[in-house]
Amino acid sequence: MHFKVSPSTLRDARVTVPGDKSVSHRSLMLGSIAEGRTQVSGFLAGEDCLATAAAMRALGVTIEQPNPTELIIEGVGRNGLQAPSSDLDLGNSGTAMRLMAGLLSGQPFSSVLKGDTSLNGRPMGRIIKPLTAMGAAIESDCDGTPPLQVTGGLRLQGIHYDMPVASAQVKSAVLLAGLYADGTTSVTEPAVTRDHTERMLRTMGVTVTESSGTISMDGGQILRGCEVRVPADLSSATFIILGTLLSQDADIIINSVGMNPTRTGVIGILQGMGADITLENPQLLGEEPVADIRVRASRLQGGAVDPALVSLAIDEFPALFVAAAAAQGVTTFTGIGELRVKESDRIAAMAKGMRQLGIRVDESDDGAVVHGGRFSGGEVDSCHDHRVAMSFAMAATIADDEVLIRDVDNVDTSFPGFRTCVAGIGADIEVVRD
Ligand code: S3P
Repeated sequence: MHFKVSPSTLRDARVTVPGDKSVSHRSLMLGSIAEGRTQVSGFLAGEDCLATAAAMRALGVTIEQPNPTELIIEGVGRNGLQAPSSDLDLGNSGTAMRLMAGLLSGQPFSSVLKGDTSLNGRPMGRIIKPLTAMGAAIESDCDGTPPLQVTGGLRLQGIHYDMPVASAQVKSAVLLAGLYADGTTSVTEPAVTRDHTERMLRTMGVTVTESSGTISMDGGQILRGCEVRVPADLSSATFIILGTLLSQDADIIINSVGMNPTRTGVIGILQGMGADITLENPQLLGEEPVADIRVRASRLQGGAVDPALVSLAIDEFPALFVAAAAAQGVTTFTGIGELRVKESDRIAAMAKGMRQLGIRVDESDDGAVVHGGRFSGGEVDSCHDHRVAMSFAMAATIADDEVLIRDVDNVDTSFPGFRTCVAGIGADIEVVRD
């Protein structure tokens, strides 16, 4: 499946984007091992989260989905998961694979975790190392990639882990294993990463402390089922923000988007480039802050993106590359090497596609320099990466001619309904097949 996007005029609108992927994954995993019922609203019914739901069901958890965005999870308690009868397929999701590896390390049974071609190429050494130090046994392919064979029945010991990379997935994997470990488990992060796991654990009654970048938790604590209200995903909202900023004169409001301060780097970076973005109606949705985002067409200015904001905007760099291409002058990104091990090598995927559309991009191992210019028409490859596909779809609305974005099937992993949503605000976007 491909998108064909023609130059378009976006119009004023109010839109809602789907639920947060990170919070949706965590509601499934934590709700499953809680005592009692967890009721989830605003759930992201995207392919990744549905794969996680199927995995939790295969582990013996009853999960009802009365409508696409609501779940009723009958928690089985920390020791209630059952051995799956087959391998657990986590689709495209690094979050699901890494968090599940932590969770399953503490179970009395063994399990196998596998994924799609992209996930089966992603590095798992980063979780195998700390989990092994806790006493877990996890085998991967020889290059440290999935499938993962997690041996059950081992006794885990709490550790202190100094994370070499800023990763919420690694932090969460260690904390989930820590629930099953003797003693205290703590993780120090080199930069702040999303804290949805810590927030949800606290809401479920677990004591988790944080001090100077170190998160600590005692093992053996009980989780209690709760209500989880999933905010709209800022990472998905980013594509609407991008399209609006690039547009002629659109003024768009995106309803009730997650504003967790560990996620809002993109807003700060875009505002620093001159974006007209304001936040309205701030409130708390359960444990997560939300606000309506109001964004208006803006003239963007390039500059140096603050590396301190990288971990707070980690999934938004494909969109930020497009913003940089549409900005006046040159934008320099540094400290973004982690992008090379996401659903695709996002520096390479974006640089290649933008060059194909006439934008100059200079790449380095952990950075890129994007020269502002005009997008021509043409053809680009999404590299099977949902965020690369959606970034190019928004770029194409201001291109000089039609753009074909190849292999966009994975958009449904994080933003089901993307095409309808952006067509609803005026984008001329069609699905075409070979
Ligand atoms: C996520 C953490 C980030 C992010 C991913 C979701 C999470 O990954 O890129 O899309 O839900 O914990 P890393 O922890 O690998 O940076």
